[in-house]
Amino acid sequence: MNIEGKKVTEKVGSILGNYQREKGMLVSILQDVQAEYNYLPKDALMEVSQGLDVPLSRVYSVATFFKSFSLKPRGRHLINVCLGTACHVRGAVRILEKIERELGINPDETTEDLKFTLETVNCVGACALGPIVIVDGEYSGEMRTDKIIPLLDKYD
Ligand code: FES
Repeated sequence: MNIEGKKVTEKVGSILGNYQREKGMLVSILQDVQAEYNYLPKDALMEVSQGLDVPLSRVYSVATFFKSFSLKPRGRHLINVCLGTACHVRGAVRILEKIERELGINPDETTEDLKFTLETVNCVGACALGPIVIVDGEYSGEMRTDKIIPLLDKYD
């Protein structure tokens, strides 16, 4: 399929242009699309498929292979609750349940206002400080349920 004459959005078109529409750069292109939208919108994947002349099924298989890609809208802030053994024995489940209640979502879900996405991880290598909650890469150790609301309040 030739992309000439096909309409692609300005953003995706410009990302494709940055990589000279090289099929081999599919992963990097998807990373840039995700950086733009915070996830991989279906329309954008179709535009990438058309723009690179790569089957949509191939684009989807790459998009679903890498855990870092998301096909669902994600929040502006990513919360990770460590459920590794050390954090677990120090009460990580109570911390997770408190966050779930506060935000009204379960792990792997995003709040309706697209403010927070909640995920869990298994050990982030800071066991001595558990239980650990990580928001946008920032670690908070020795978490207690009464520290959750002040922590969430820090984010817009
Ligand atoms: S188990 Fe949570 S940091 Fe290791």
